[in-house]
Amino acid sequence: MRQDLRQRLLSANQVGILSHWAKLSPHEQSLVERQLELIDLEFLANLFDKRNSPFALPEAEKIAAVPVLHPSTNSPESKNEGLKALAKGEVAILMVAGGQGSRLGTLQPKGTWPITPITQKSLFELHSEKVLTLSKKANRDIPFLIMTSPATHDQTVTFFTSHSFFGLKKEQVIFFTQGTMPAVDLNTGAILFEEPAKVFASPDGHGGTLTALKKTGLLEQLKSQGIKHLFFFQVDNPLVQIADPVFIGHHISHRSQLSSKVILKDSPTDKLGNFIQVDGRCQIIEYSDLPLELANRKKHDGSLFIDTGNPAIHLFDVDFLNVVSSNGDALPFHLARKKVPHVDTNLSKVVPEKENAWKFERFIFDIFPLAERWLLVSTKRDEEFAPLKNAQGDDSPETAKQAQCKLFIQWLEKAGIKMPAYSATPEIEISPSFAMDAEELFRKLPGNFQAIFPLLLQDNPKEF
Ligand code: UTP
Repeated sequence: MRQDLRQRLLSANQVGILSHWAKLSPHEQSLVERQLELIDLEFLANLFDKRNSPFALPEAEKIAAVPVLHPSTNSPESKNEGLKALAKGEVAILMVAGGQGSRLGTLQPKGTWPITPITQKSLFELHSEKVLTLSKKANRDIPFLIMTSPATHDQTVTFFTSHSFFGLKKEQVIFFTQGTMPAVDLNTGAILFEEPAKVFASPDGHGGTLTALKKTGLLEQLKSQGIKHLFFFQVDNPLVQIADPVFIGHHISHRSQLSSKVILKDSPTDKLGNFIQVDGRCQIIEYSDLPLELANRKKHDGSLFIDTGNPAIHLFDVDFLNVVSSNGDALPFHLARKKVPHVDTNLSKVVPEKENAWKFERFIFDIFPLAERWLLVSTKRDEEFAPLKNAQGDDSPETAKQAQCKLFIQWLEKAGIKMPAYSATPEIEISPSFAMDAEELFRKLPGNFQAIFPLLLQDNPKEF
């Protein structure tokens, strides 16, 4: 092994690899050297040293509830402002799709999962159709950035290519790949190898977006194209209103650096990030870090003191992103205990029965405290948040399908459509190209329209 690398490994207490080094072929040795050279060993050692420091909660008396803007139903001025920004080409859309979908148990990228109630469009197709519809309305090709991870990249690009980019222009869709972090042994901090010559690396979290945007030069590119606002969402939410003009309008009129849609928590321990305010800055406490006493605290009127949840729908000011991303360590790493299969020093495979490793991830919402000007805009869970996380039970394909059908019932009712009686939730699908909301549905359907279930409303469907 090269002397300088050996020295770095020794000073970072990474002696594990040295003990199986001699068992590797020269080719494997050079592969390992190349991977290790890319790892900041000292930084990794520091993260491991801090593994037992608990999440530092702000002092109780400093925590305040957050102000939330409740837009009136149509907010025509904000909507116009948002539509103007879209038409002027000041908005780009970013979808994070790099996760591993381990709870869902899929080997394909989560975005390929069939999600719509009747036509079974994939998440990728559904989101692309929204971007395409919005682009037609704005009369320009809104850039659609898609963050993948090394594990999902090729399959994602192939999926889009083989489906003709779902009608989007090829140049409009920009794939970029997030970084990875090695997993380390729970007790010793030694880097784990998934194969004798392959470091076990996993995606560095959705917070890796910031570093990846910077490293790939995309942030600079967005700025030079005159893009001022970047709309962020997660691939696993079929209800998201992509680049909602009303949201964009409020973000612009408040000169906000970072805006977020928020939903009311269902219960004190709802599994959502919790928005709080500390010294005038906004921050999010993960549900797993929120102490029960604080979660249960009530306001004078009996409502929850911390009642504002994070559905991961954000809007970033591009200049703000450029400033914060100039500091590579702007977002902290969070540590999670995980089961990581690996090879031991005899190069035998180990499949752990209990957690044996630390994985490191950054979370995008840690960017909130860095914003001086921020804005939270309320939305409703049943209108905009139905995440696909698990194979069964809560947040599963079944609940995501039900949520879509229930939302479409609301739209039809708001549009004044006569509905037959039903006992179980009827199957309804309204494709984004037909209508993006109740208002549009109202304009599109004739006054005497009678719904018959299952109901599929779509414009000139295309087979991709
Ligand atoms: P989750 O935290 O739910 O992770 O991601 P996941 O990979 O989808 O599912 P599990 O935890 O393995 O079961 C929320 C969103 O953030 C993206 C995911 O693609 C999803 O849209 N994400 C997550 C990334 O893009 N990169 C990551 O490293 C992690």
